[in-house]
Amino acid sequence: MNFFIETIGCQMNVNDSNDISEYLVSFGCKKIDDYLKADIVLLNTCSVRFSAEHKAYSFLGRLKEYKESNPDVIVGVIGCMAQYAYKEIKKKCPFVNFVLGAKDIQNFPEIINKFIKSKQTIHKIEKKEIFKYITIARGCSNFCTYCIVPFVRGQEVSIDSDKIYSFAKEAVDNGTKEITLLGQNVNSYSFNGINFTKLIQKISSISGLERLRFMTNHPKDLSDELICEIATNKKVCKHIHLPLQSASDRILKLMNRKYTYKQYRDLVFKIKSKIPDINITSDIIVGFPTETDEDFQKTFSAAKELQFGGLFIFKYSPRPKTFALQFKDDISVEKKQRRLYELLEESNIISKKINSNYINKEIDVLVEGFQDTICCGRNSQNLKVFFSGKQNLVGKIVKVNINNALANSLSGNMVV
Ligand code: 5AD
Ligand code: SF4
Repeated sequence: MNFFIETIGCQMNVNDSNDISEYLVSFGCKKIDDYLKADIVLLNTCSVRFSAEHKAYSFLGRLKEYKESNPDVIVGVIGCMAQYAYKEIKKKCPFVNFVLGAKDIQNFPEIINKFIKSKQTIHKIEKKEIFKYITIARGCSNFCTYCIVPFVRGQEVSIDSDKIYSFAKEAVDNGTKEITLLGQNVNSYSFNGINFTKLIQKISSISGLERLRFMTNHPKDLSDELICEIATNKKVCKHIHLPLQSASDRILKLMNRKYTYKQYRDLVFKIKSKIPDINITSDIIVGFPTETDEDFQKTFSAAKELQFGGLFIFKYSPRPKTFALQFKDDISVEKKQRRLYELLEESNIISKKINSNYINKEIDVLVEGFQDTICCGRNSQNLKVFFSGKQNLVGKIVKVNINNALANSLSGNMVV
């Protein structure tokens, strides 16, 4: 059987889709890139913003036609939107065979087994994966007022550190060079007395592992102990994604972010002083209910003051079940769009300026891919780096001398 999986949303979803793909492949199913040739079509959904939901329904619209002419095709909708809009999906798209929410994703094998009739022998796949993403905690207990995640993924539950360790060890023994630990808020990881810093120490002790990354972080939980660990542990990459969301204290309070701009700013300066080569990136929401020009200007000035390596900027999108639904979504789409562009433009100027500091410097790049004589990889700071090279460099760390810097990437020549 051929299967196709469309993934919308964050790295957690990409990771869930990978696990599901591995499971299906172990049954002898084949992963393909064209849903019009698939026997099983899966849609892994996101609900963080309305646009993600819109994307899911338009894909389901196309699937409807395919299913009408191929009634035996199995169609499954999984993930965050499947969790809370279960009934709506069933009603709007009766052709869908099953809907499985993010909280119940571990039941996927049981569900799909009911549909796959001609199973082949189960075999364990020994696949060499240079990069491995490992979920260390599911859900979130922070309840930022705009965010649907705690409702669709549930409250935060940390995964047994021994399980994470053995999973990581097995991956490294099979050739993994870089591990990214995933969670909505990895800093608040806690399992049987093991906090996030201890977990990092435990995982980074695995011999053969070259790099360790993690995301995402909440400013209120980023401890001095963790900053010290990032500073001193050679395997831990020098990149922290630290969502700010807004630099107006009034808006931060309405968002229930539990810090003031001053606290965030002090934290950023502390990190930069302890880890001089750190790259700090952030998320911003523009157009949160009641956000005035003055509030927005505070965020704009903060971006300039803090010199983020990169910004992900989102227009506020009202989400079901969230507390912020009680506020009127009173900022027009045009205004949200204007603020987004203004900030994005400034952020690109800043990133390009920061990245130009790499020019004429040699940096270590772990090579991820190769196409048409060009290798692509990332440095410790998580910047994309391009240079001409060969296929056999994939999976290796090489030195690259940088001669060009853009807002989102660097390029240069390999140092032989
Ligand atoms: N509207 C806009 N952006 C949102 N995010 C989360 N919820 C919303 C929402 N309702 C953004 C936040 C978060 C990132 C993953 O998505 O910036 O950090
Ligand atoms: Fe959502 Fe806030 Fe949790 Fe992030 S920390 S997942 S924004 S509730």
